[in-house]
Amino acid sequence: MGKTALVIGAGRGIGKAIALRLARDGFDLVGTASRDAASLAEVRKGTEEAGRRFTGLVFSVEDRAAAAEALTGCFGEDAPEVIVYNAGIARDNLFVFMSPEEWDAVIRTNLDGFYNTVQPLLMGMMARRSGRIVAISSASGQTGQGGQVNYSASKAGLIGAVKALAREVGRKNILVNAVAPGFIETAMTADLPREKILPLIPLNRSGHPEEVAGVVSFLCGPDSAYIQGQVLAVNGGLVM
Ligand SMILES: NC(=O)c1ccc[n+]([C@@H]2O[C@H](COP(=O)([O-])OP(=O)(O)OC[C@H]3O[C@@H](n4cnc5c(N)ncnc54)[C@H](OP(=O)(O)O)[C@@H]3O)[C@@H](O)[C@H]2O)c1
Repeated sequence: MGKTALVIGAGRGIGKAIALRLARDGFDLVGTASRDAASLAEVRKGTEEAGRRFTGLVFSVEDRAAAAEALTGCFGEDAPEVIVYNAGIARDNLFVFMSPEEWDAVIRTNLDGFYNTVQPLLMGMMARRSGRIVAISSASGQTGQGGQVNYSASKAGLIGAVKALAREVGRKNILVNAVAPGFIETAMTADLPREKILPLIPLNRSGHPEEVAGVVSFLCGPDSAYIQGQVLAVNGGLVM
């Protein structure tokens, strides 16, 4: 396999924009979906229109065995040049009312999924002595957000994981960083009260998935070769 980027959660929203941008940057793409290969049709089409190859994998990031099987089946002992861990969900509730299911689903998807998908491929990256790993965290993980104790914990956990891993694998020429979006227009934010959120954002607008993808592209390209263990915020000034 040539220069390949793996995008975990590539079928829609921010992950889809990232996949399409990395394809335009010249990467062949492996994109994942949780349940349905059909949800990858548009990103496959866009990747192929950019002249790159697309491989779709279907597994839930919560399922450690399924993730390992799919990824090992795809890459063998090799590893992609780039891994973007983008899969994420929110199950918002005040902590006092938060159900075990709401807690577990968010931690399993947002944080355990990082282990389940990145760890099986790390040895291959280390053996090759090159790679980029980007985790999509959140402004909520930087500051904490009421009603999102589970989500904030998972996204802060990703930041900790990125920083620790950056220390472990820097000598192997593997760069590990996080991107922390603010309020980006996707299905995840469709039901949030815009009128309450926009006044908190100095740029006074929501962000577009492509604006997150551009920063991921930078972190996967030559101009970021000396950036390690950082959190790049893409939030219109929401968090400074
Ligand atoms: N939108 C924002 O304002 C915002 C802000 C900060 C951070 N983020 C983060 O950005 C990332 C993308 O969010 P988005 O806004 O694009 O949301 P979205 O449109 O809801 O997309 C969520 C993505 O995660 C994948 N996913 C969810 N559960 C999964 C599972 N169990 N196994 C595999 N994949 C799973 C989905 O794949 P399927 O479609 O196949 O289920 C989808 O690709 C998330 O990590 C989110 O927390 C978003």
